[in-house]
Amino acid sequence: MCDVAGIATRLSGRHVLLTGVTGFVGQALLHRLLADVAEVTVTLLVRPKGSNSGRDRVRSLLGQPIFADVRERAGDVDALLDSRVRVLEGDMSAVPELPRDLDAVVHCAGDVSFNPPVDHAFTTNVVGTRDLLGRIEAAGDDIHYVHVSTAYVAGRRRGTVLEGPVDHDVDLEAELSWGLAQREVVERESRSSDRLADIRGKAERDHGRAGLLTAAAAAEEKRREWVADELVRLGTERARSLGWTDCYTFTKAMGERIVEAYAADAPVSIVRPSIIESSLATPQPGWIEGFKMAEPLILAYGRGELPEFPAAPDTVIDIVPVDHVVAAIVAVLAQPPDAGAPGYFHVASSARNPLRFGDLYDSVRRYYDAHPFTSGDRGATRLPEWRFPGAQAVERLLSTSERAHKVADFVVGRAPGSDRTRDLARKLDRQGRRLEFLRRYLDLYREYTQTELRFADDNTMRLYASLPEQDRDRFAFDTTVIDWPTYIEDIHCPAVTAPLRKLDEARRKRKRNDGALERLQPRGTDQNDAAGSSHNVAAFFDMDGTMLSSNVIETYLWLRLREMSAAERAGHLGRLSARLPGMVRAERHDRTAFLRSVYREYEGARLADLNEIVDAALTDHVLARLAAAAVRRVREHRAAGHRTVLITGAIRPLTRPLAPLFDHIEAADLAVDDTGVCTGFLASSPLTGEARASWMRNWARDNDVDLSASYGYADSHSDLPLLDAVGRPVAVRPDVTLYRHARTNRWRIVDWASPDSIGRPLNPAGSR
Ligand SMILES: NC(=O)c1ccc[n+]([C@@H]2O[C@H](COP(=O)([O-])OP(=O)(O)OC[C@H]3O[C@@H](n4cnc5c(N)ncnc54)[C@H](OP(=O)(O)O)[C@@H]3O)[C@@H](O)[C@H]2O)c1
Repeated sequence: MCDVAGIATRLSGRHVLLTGVTGFVGQALLHRLLADVAEVTVTLLVRPKGSNSGRDRVRSLLGQPIFADVRERAGDVDALLDSRVRVLEGDMSAVPELPRDLDAVVHCAGDVSFNPPVDHAFTTNVVGTRDLLGRIEAAGDDIHYVHVSTAYVAGRRRGTVLEGPVDHDVDLEAELSWGLAQREVVERESRSSDRLADIRGKAERDHGRAGLLTAAAAAEEKRREWVADELVRLGTERARSLGWTDCYTFTKAMGERIVEAYAADAPVSIVRPSIIESSLATPQPGWIEGFKMAEPLILAYGRGELPEFPAAPDTVIDIVPVDHVVAAIVAVLAQPPDAGAPGYFHVASSARNPLRFGDLYDSVRRYYDAHPFTSGDRGATRLPEWRFPGAQAVERLLSTSERAHKVADFVVGRAPGSDRTRDLARKLDRQGRRLEFLRRYLDLYREYTQTELRFADDNTMRLYASLPEQDRDRFAFDTTVIDWPTYIEDIHCPAVTAPLRKLDEARRKRKRNDGALERLQPRGTDQNDAAGSSHNVAAFFDMDGTMLSSNVIETYLWLRLREMSAAERAGHLGRLSARLPGMVRAERHDRTAFLRSVYREYEGARLADLNEIVDAALTDHVLARLAAAAVRRVREHRAAGHRTVLITGAIRPLTRPLAPLFDHIEAADLAVDDTGVCTGFLASSPLTGEARASWMRNWARDNDVDLSASYGYADSHSDLPLLDAVGRPVAVRPDVTLYRHARTNRWRIVDWASPDSIGRPLNPAGSR
C-alpha cells in the first residue's frame, strides 16, 4: 500500500524519462505529471521531424492549450524548460545514451497504426524496446521501467484474459529477423521483370497519351504503392497465422517478451490499456488527440456512410478514457515492484463495466438524432438503421458494392468528358473512398469483435484500492464509475465531431469559391508592382477543347472541303469516314501518330490557299466557337502584364483568327515543297504531351519566364505535362482522367462553355 502521503510524495524529487510524449497518451501523461506531481523532473525522448528539432517540438507541445495551467504556474514555456523539463533528441530506431540520474522510464512511444508495414512495426515496437532497455541498463541499477503495452497482446483468443505473461511459444528472434528482412525481399520482388512489365503495361495503357515519361512516373508510383501494401499484407498474414489480430498487436506482444526477459533482474511494470478514447474529466471532458479506433466509425455513421456492422449487439467493446489510463500509469510509476517480479496491469472496462455494441450504437444514434451532420442543402443526414445481420451478411453486402463500383468505374473512365461524366466520376470517387474505408475498418473490427475478450483488472483495482483517499479522487481509474450513455452522448461524440463540423464549414466556404479563378491584378497596380515580376509570368493556353470547341478532324473538314468540288467532297468524305474509327482509337494511345495521320490529308493543298480560306471564310466560325470566358481570361493576363502563349497541335493557318490575343503561338507547321504545296508531312513533330512541357521549359528559359509563377489552361489528360509544368494549373472542362488528377491535386477546375459548343452546324463547304 502507498504511504499516506500518496503518489505526489512518492514521486517527489524523482527524475522520469518519458517516450512518446508527442502522441495521444504521452501528451496526457506529461500533462498529468507536470500538473499534479509538482516535484517531478522529466526528460522527454523526442525525435526531430522535418526541420524541427526534438527541442522545437517540445517547445511547441508545451505551448498547446492542454498545458495552459502548467505554463501559467511556471511562468512560461522557457521557465518550464529551465526547471522541470529536459529534452533528449532521439528515435526509437537509434536510442541515444540516457541521463545517469534517472529513477524511472515510461515507454509510451510505439507504432500504433493497426496495419503498419511489417518492418516498421518490428523496428519501433520490438527493436526500439530492446535498445531502450539496453540504454536503461547502462544508465544505472534499479531504474523502474514502465512499459505501455496493449491489452490486445492477448491475440485472437476468447474469454477472460488475466494480468500476466501472454501464453505463446513464438520464436521471437526468428520472427524479428524475418520481419526486418521483408522490405528488402519485397523491394526485390517489386523490381522483377514480370511485375515491372505488368505495372508498366497498365501505366502505359492509362497514361501513354500524356507521354512515356508520365507513364513511367505513374508506374514507379504504383510500384511503391505495391511495396507498401505488400509489407502491410505480409505483417497482417503472419500475425494472424500466429494467433494475433494484426501486426500491431503481434509486435507489441513480441515487445513484451523482450521486456519480460529484462524483468528478471530489474523492476518492471507492464500497463495494458484496452481501446483508449477521450477524457472523462482531466484535463477536460472530451480531450482527445488524433483519431484512432472508434472515432472513424462514429463519424462515418453520423455521415450516413456505415450501413451495417459485422458485430453482434451483445459483443463487448472495451473502451477506457485516456485520463483513467494516465492516472493508472502514474499510480504504477509511484509503486515500483521488486526486480524479478514484474507487475501487469490491465486498464480496461470489459470485466466490470462492459459496454455492448448494441448500447454503443443506441447512444451514438441518440446523439446524432439530436445533433445531426447536415449534407449540403439537403438538411440532416439520414442515419442508417443497423440490424446487425452478422459478419457474413455484411461481407456479402460489401463485396457486391465493390464489384458494382469496379464496373461503373471502368465505364466512366472510358466515357467522353462531359458535365455528366465528370459528375459521375466525382460520385464514384467518393463512393470508392467510402468502400475502401469500409473494407479497412470492417476487416479490422471483425477481428476485434470476434475475439470477445474480457480483461480481468484485479491487479489494477488492488493498486487503486491501495491509494490514499485524496489520490483516488485525483488519480481516478476505476472504470465502474463511467456511465456509458452520458460519456458517449455528452462527452465523447461532441468531442470527436467538433473538428469535423468545423472542417465542413470551411469546406462549404471553399465550395462557394470553387470555379472562381484567382483575380489578376492589372499591371501598374500596387500589388503587381510590389511583386515586380508580372513580366516574368506567362499564361499558356491549349486551343482545341480549351479555348474553343473543335478538334483536328473537324477543323480539317472546314478547311479542306471548301476547296473541293461536290464530287471530290463526296469521295473524300467516304474515304475519311472509313478511316475515322481507327484514327479515333489510335488517338487514345498516341496523339502524335493520330495528328500525323490527319495531317497527311492536307497533301496537295496550297498553304497560301489555306491561309486565305481561314482569313476570308473561317475567322467568323472560329470566333463563334471561342469561349467568351477564355477570351476574357487571356485579356486579364495581358492586362496583368503576363505573356500569353497559345500552344496547340492544330495547324498554323487555323490559329490565325486568334493571333491578336497571343504574344506567341506555337502550332503545327505543314511542310511544303518548292511551289508552296503541302507534302502531307509536318515541318517538325507536333507538340503533344511531354513535348509541350519540354518546349515550354525551353521557351521560358529563353524568355526569362518563371514557370512556377505561370499559368496553364488545358482540357485533356494528354495535357497533363503542360499543366504540371506550371505553378498555377487550371483544368478547363476536363476529361475524366484529368478531372480526377485535378481534384486529387486541388487544381482549379473551370467550365468555359463556348457559345457553339453544341454547335451551330457549320457548313464546311461554305458558299463556294
Ligand atoms: N491509443 C490507443 O487506443 C492505445 C490502446 C492501447 C495501448 N496503447 C499504447 O499506448 C502507447 C501510446 O499510444 P498513442 O495512442 O499515444 O499513440 P500515438 O498517438 O500514435 O503516439 C505514438 C508516439 O510514439 C512516438 N513514436 C513512434 N515511433 C517512434 C520512433 N521511431 N521514435 C520515437 N518516437 C516514436 C510518436 O512520436 P512522433 O510524434 O515523433 O511520431 C508519438 O509520440 C503505445 O505504446 C500504444 O501501443 C494505445
